[in-house]
Amino acid sequence: MPAGDSFFIATPIFYVNDVPHIGHAYTEVAADVLARWHRQRGDDAWLLTGTDEHGQKILRTATSNGVTPQEWADKLVTESWKPLLQTVDIRNDDFIRTTDARHEKGVQTFLQKLYDDGFIYQGEFEGFYCVGCEEYKQPGDLVDGTGPFEGQQVCAIHSKPVELLQESNYFFRMSDFEQRLLDLYEQQPDFVQPDTVRNEIVQFVKQGLRDLSISRQSFDWGVKVPWDEKHVVYVWFDALLNYITAIGYGVDDDEFDRRWPAVQLVGKDIARFHAVIWPAMLMAAGLPVPKNVFGHGWLLVGGEKMSKSKLTGIAPQQITDVFGSDAFRYYFMRAITFGQDGNFSWEDISARYQAELANGFGNLASRVVAMITRYFDGTVPVAGELTDADLAVRETEVRVTAAADAAIDRFAINEALSSIWELVDTLNGYITEQEPWALAKDESKRERLATVLATSLRGLGTLTVLLSPFIPTATTTLWQSIGQGELTSQPVDRAPEWSSAPEVQPLAAGLFPRIEQPEPAK
Ligand code: MSP
Repeated sequence: MPAGDSFFIATPIFYVNDVPHIGHAYTEVAADVLARWHRQRGDDAWLLTGTDEHGQKILRTATSNGVTPQEWADKLVTESWKPLLQTVDIRNDDFIRTTDARHEKGVQTFLQKLYDDGFIYQGEFEGFYCVGCEEYKQPGDLVDGTGPFEGQQVCAIHSKPVELLQESNYFFRMSDFEQRLLDLYEQQPDFVQPDTVRNEIVQFVKQGLRDLSISRQSFDWGVKVPWDEKHVVYVWFDALLNYITAIGYGVDDDEFDRRWPAVQLVGKDIARFHAVIWPAMLMAAGLPVPKNVFGHGWLLVGGEKMSKSKLTGIAPQQITDVFGSDAFRYYFMRAITFGQDGNFSWEDISARYQAELANGFGNLASRVVAMITRYFDGTVPVAGELTDADLAVRETEVRVTAAADAAIDRFAINEALSSIWELVDTLNGYITEQEPWALAKDESKRERLATVLATSLRGLGTLTVLLSPFIPTATTTLWQSIGQGELTSQPVDRAPEWSSAPEVQPLAAGLFPRIEQPEPAK
């Protein structure tokens, strides 16, 4: 077991009504980068992801496709959701499905406890429900419909009519937790991040919380309420529990105590579920609340939130087929301020690929390895006396390592990459100024040539370690050429301390090859 602190990070679990798009892959990549960074820093990191398979939305999709919901979920998980993890190179430690027996059992244990402790009661529910959101709506959440729904009230997110529900349901006493939640936001100001999302949550809770209907009787695709099997558990109540059923809640106390509480990464559209309902549920069960709930922004395409239903959906593979998984990961982590919305465009990813990955980093790697191969037969040269210019490179390595590590702790993933890129630029500038190719022509400058290439290689190795959580494929290839041991065992927070192999191996091809056609054929 790593000696470091527990770092349990979870993505939301994804609805299996449809195939993944780049918005889903974005959440996965961000969580994976944070998990890889922490793992490489020696923390006891654990990345959880999975699928949300119950509820009316999945049931209806399965029915309209003529299969059972279980068959539908199995097909989507096997053919689309698990393969997504390969497509964007996610190194998750677990994958939970809400149809797993371990999960269903954990949900029932949790619910029974809340029932026994008096936090659940039976009552009549009447209200509006949006199946797209799987959420009860207040009148203020609805807007006037347009087109085919003119004259009706529709969900502001899905632009479709809501359904009137009238049922006898079980309710969770969420209103009991209003003050405790407000105290939590106050006492732990970094509980909900970023501030824009935090403010919205605080405002929402200050308006007063109602008890939450947590069971349904009109269909049976869900976890059965243990003391009244005519009811199934409300899909969000069921889904939120995945974060603890996956780590042994109720069955393996050691594992649970080792991992919980989690860092939760969610899209801002579902921050309310995670920052209001979820901590209230945990408080009722006497469990610690999550460490943080970070609500990231939306990927926009042509200025609109990308979504399959609005036909702006782009499959991650459309991008990785052209640019590869590293470029996908790099682009979304670099181009978008984590926590804000960001626009995707083919022109933008293409430009960054060329300028930053191929010309900036890839070219630097090829040049340094090629010059050591050419001028020193591949043997790593030993630096002589260091000049101010050489020392400045080393100082940059140390400075950006600390800055990137601090940025990761603030969830400022794009800032971490900007800091690391200072080293890319510094090294490229250094090589241009030092002109090793000119030094190589003069035998009396041999020692200086050795120092310049040794300094360049040192910087390149530091970059390789720092970039490995972001672009694992290219950095692994480069590491095989210059490093020793496993790249993923190099402490990322002490990246400049890496050791090179005695000899570099030539790089077979550029790390980021030329792209002939930056956009897929329409
Ligand atoms: N099943 C629920 C989550 C339950 S967690 C206990 C759900 N699933 S989802 O598949 O609809 O969305 C999963 C995540 O994808 C959410 O965090 C959502 O914000 C994110 N995204 C969906 N579209 C997105 C964009 N266009 N951009 C960025 N993220 C987006 O909600």
